[in-house]
Amino acid sequence: MASLDAPLLRALRGDRPERQPVWFMRQAGRSLPEYRELRVGTRMLDACLTPDLAAEITLQPIRRHDVDAAIFFSDIVVPLRLAGVDVVIEPGRGPVFADPVRTADDVARITTIDPADVAAAAEPVREAARRVVAELSDSVPLIGFAGAPFTLAAYLVEGGPSKEHLRARGMMHADPASWHRLAGWLAKVSRAFLDAQIDGGAQAVQLFDSWAGSLAPATFREFIAPHSHEALEGIEVPRIHFGVGTGAFLDDMRLGGLADAVGVDWRMPLDEAAALVGPDVTLQGNIDPALLGAPWPVLEAHVDDVLARGRAARAHVLNLGHGVPPDTDPDVLTRIVAHAHGHDPAPRAD
Ligand code: CP3
Repeated sequence: MASLDAPLLRALRGDRPERQPVWFMRQAGRSLPEYRELRVGTRMLDACLTPDLAAEITLQPIRRHDVDAAIFFSDIVVPLRLAGVDVVIEPGRGPVFADPVRTADDVARITTIDPADVAAAAEPVREAARRVVAELSDSVPLIGFAGAPFTLAAYLVEGGPSKEHLRARGMMHADPASWHRLAGWLAKVSRAFLDAQIDGGAQAVQLFDSWAGSLAPATFREFIAPHSHEALEGIEVPRIHFGVGTGAFLDDMRLGGLADAVGVDWRMPLDEAAALVGPDVTLQGNIDPALLGAPWPVLEAHVDDVLARGRAARAHVLNLGHGVPPDTDPDVLTRIVAHAHGHDPAPRAD
């Protein structure tokens, strides 16, 4: 278990530790050859529910990059699998559901599943988290995560990945009662998943509302925020709330002060984000993943700009604006960490 003085935990409380905390969304996964090797022959969700595999994959980027946090290797749909929902992750595509939840009857049926069943089935998650925490140093906490109700619904209602999430967004307006019933249930299911990771030793959590950017601000406030609030309320470790394309309602992403940190994508400079969210919240972000393949001087200037603008926030956790793209050269991530920590390796001939 990391010390409460770990740089990440200090920054989430609003301090500016000497060592700039940095980690990367999707730091575990396909950008690492050792991950690709370990995953051969095992389906994604089976890997997530095999404690020694999930723990080892979580630790791989820690060994490589000297990041200031581990993010639990799992997926936002794992708690739905634990609830008995028929879901697979298709490589190159994403989560696919055998029975999309589209009608009032579908919603009534799925919400009869007791979220306590998820908690009961989550022992592999607890066990994997315990194994990770046992291996981490004092300065590197484990971050647990879950999908926010809207992002989960964006898959569950559509049946798979979609661009505009029209069916999920449509349900809110066509049948608000069913929407609220479904989103309230998803909040409890994600909460059970978060609690399992915290029981296993996670010392911070991140709620991913990756697709919230497809919502109008008023829709976010009325149909989404109360349920995301429910997923995080009463949790006793620091909370990070992340979305992509949420600049139009960034202040609402604080969930009325419940979030200790708000994750910002690459579209909005952090000083502008700080002006929107005010002095009571830490910002996390927002290196543009598209720059990871740029020549180092270009990327370095971008990272420095992100760090400089991050000074406008009460505190800053350096991260990407969204996940690590699978074709990223992992050495670039290692170099960003060294640079942020102020000990650049000798300049290379690029
Ligand atoms: O390192 C980490 O960040 C931890 C692991 C993690 C995964 N998924 C592993 C994963 C986390 C935090 C997630 C969350 C997740 N899953 C989100 C929210 C984060 C985000 O990126 O916005 C979403 C939307 C999903 C749904 C999902 N799962 C998608 C869209 C995909 C990609 C499908 C593909 O193949 O392109 C997945 C699969 C997935 N989740 C992989 C990994 C490492 C790839 C699986 C593989 O190796 O084949």
